[in-house]
Amino acid sequence: MTLVVTGGAGYVGSVCAQHLLDAGHDVVVVDDLTTGHEDAVPAGARLVVGDVAEVADDVLGAGGVDGVIHCAARSLVGESAEKPAKYWHGNVVTTIALLDAVCRHRVPRLVFSSTAATYGEPESSPITEDAPTRPTNTYGATKLAVDHAIGTYAAASGGELGAVSLRYFNVAGAHAGAGSALGERHTVETHLIPLVLQVALGQRDEIAIFGDDWPTADGTCVRDYIHVDDLAEAHLLALDLLARGDASVIEKAGGHLVCNLGNGTGFSVLEVIEACRRVTGHPIPARVAPRRTGDPGVLVASSARARDELGWKPTHTDLDGIVADAWAFARSRAAG
Ligand code: UFG
Repeated sequence: MTLVVTGGAGYVGSVCAQHLLDAGHDVVVVDDLTTGHEDAVPAGARLVVGDVAEVADDVLGAGGVDGVIHCAARSLVGESAEKPAKYWHGNVVTTIALLDAVCRHRVPRLVFSSTAATYGEPESSPITEDAPTRPTNTYGATKLAVDHAIGTYAAASGGELGAVSLRYFNVAGAHAGAGSALGERHTVETHLIPLVLQVALGQRDEIAIFGDDWPTADGTCVRDYIHVDDLAEAHLLALDLLARGDASVIEKAGGHLVCNLGNGTGFSVLEVIEACRRVTGHPIPARVAPRRTGDPGVLVASSARARDELGWKPTHTDLDGIVADAWAFARSRAAG
């Protein structure tokens, strides 16, 4: 298939693009390179530099596109509170322009990077796709709005468009392929594992633990860490499902299937820091800091639907293994 990956110069998008290339697909990456990196675009993919909303019509209008994987997004929870317009425009307005182009040019398949942040503070754990969606931050609200928009476009397309929204939990690790390493390279880093590894690299003095008074076993927040390679495989399986002639699962879902992606196992902040200490051999000083606004205490996915409907089976579920891949990537970047 010929597939367009928006945000394919970013962390998740670049790994998805690499998996698609490895599976023999043709890949066109669309990325404005504001947060992505040109050298993260896998060799073999064609890069179109531009804003998704501006170039979608040209890229899809050229014809022959079998599907779009839409990863491009603004994704900093904290920033989304300070600059809501950047998130409503960057995530919602942009995606509506993309959806219009998808329908105008009759692209039959769409896979969207949604997020656990659509659920907000969960009532029960693990979180299923039927759980209430009450995002606690603007980022999650914009992603939820896009999920709704995709559902209505798919339903109105009369079967012409099939879509899958994948709700990522905490994506981590790195992809190690032949001659390429793809991992987290955020200019503004807010994610736990890369920040902890920066301490091991001597790039920061300590890691702040955002609260130790949560109602969890050790008092620190619990998250569901999923390896980026397992995450990317789910995108390929979603495309397979959409490409299958008897897409009854998609029909049953009204043209739009929503699936959580996580390992179903939670690890606390302290457990993550311990894993980083084991993997790096560095003592990694840590100090308790106040809770971070908008953080839920526990976020763990039920991925039963992804397993049942997509046939997805994560294979990199060991926390030390996930950290080891992130560490190998961080060290190779630090070494230049
Ligand atoms: N944390 C710390 N110290 C830090 C950074 C993080 O203690 O310096 C804690 C956070 O409080 C949280 C856990 O580590 O409990 C994980 O934090 P991340 O920032 O790595 O990830 P989040 O769980 O906040 O966010 C992730 C995705 C978001 C998505 C969200 C869904 O990165 O894009 O899950 O809730 F919105």
